Amino acid sequence: MLMSDNRAIGVFDSGLGGLTVAREIMKLLPRENIVYFGDTGRVPYGTKGRDTIRKYSLQDERFLLSHDVKMIVAACGTVSSVAADTAEQLPVPFIEVVSHSVRAAVSTTKNGKIGILATSATINSGAHKKQILQLLPTAKVVEASGTLLVPIVEEGWTDIDDAVAIETLKRYLKPMMDEGVDTLILGCTHFPVLSSIIRKVLGNSVTLINMGEATAKAIGEILKQTDSLNDGTTATNHKFYASDKTDAFVGTVNILLGDYNKDFGIEQVDIEKV
Ligand code: DGL
Repeated sequence: MLMSDNRAIGVFDSGLGGLTVAREIMKLLPRENIVYFGDTGRVPYGTKGRDTIRKYSLQDERFLLSHDVKMIVAACGTVSSVAADTAEQLPVPFIEVVSHSVRAAVSTTKNGKIGILATSATINSGAHKKQILQLLPTAKVVEASGTLLVPIVEEGWTDIDDAVAIETLKRYLKPMMDEGVDTLILGCTHFPVLSSIIRKVLGNSVTLINMGEATAKAIGEILKQTDSLNDGTTATNHKFYASDKTDAFVGTVNILLGDYNKDFGIEQVDIEKV
């Protein structure tokens, strides 16, 4: 007998960037409902220390569990790199974004030169690099901390002609260009919305790895293997929560969710009280 699980998938990020992962889940698994939490009141995580990131991650996971989710997705490169161990005690499967994107990058590269653009906490953890070298010991890995890119995305400065975004990316991507990487992992979930500008800077010969895409595929496989797919019709019950609402919020949600934004409405929660 085919089993199913119609509970929602819990997805969290330090802010709104994780919506790029939620969007890939909606695209690939249209029957799945999502409960999203963005810690917009405490973003960024990527410049904070390990203990703080772990404490925040535990609170975020607890919040999602209180919504009876069947799985928790850390849609944040920083949490996935620095605080994945906070999920060890979770009563539901936990999916992080690093390992799936590393596998995609290793199977994509032709010249073995892989770039990683992420937050400084992610780069300092060495999580992507370690996993790449395990799978491809001869790889040349070029890393850059794109600290300023997170506020640029949260601010919605993602237009292909945005001068600030272009100049900032040129500076961060210079080492990748000098080395001739053919594959670039967007190691922070805020960055897929900068893809057009990144292509403009790097040229079309570099393949960009979107962690959301790689992770959504893995989520689909896990739900299938564990007979936990939603057997209902198209998802109609997505829920979005955030720990703060700013003026730029609506515009940024639009940019990050793209065609998948259906004016869901975002409820504010006091995450410190969870
Ligand atoms: N979305 C987070 C990530 O993937 C980055 C934002 C932050 O620094 O909190 O790393």
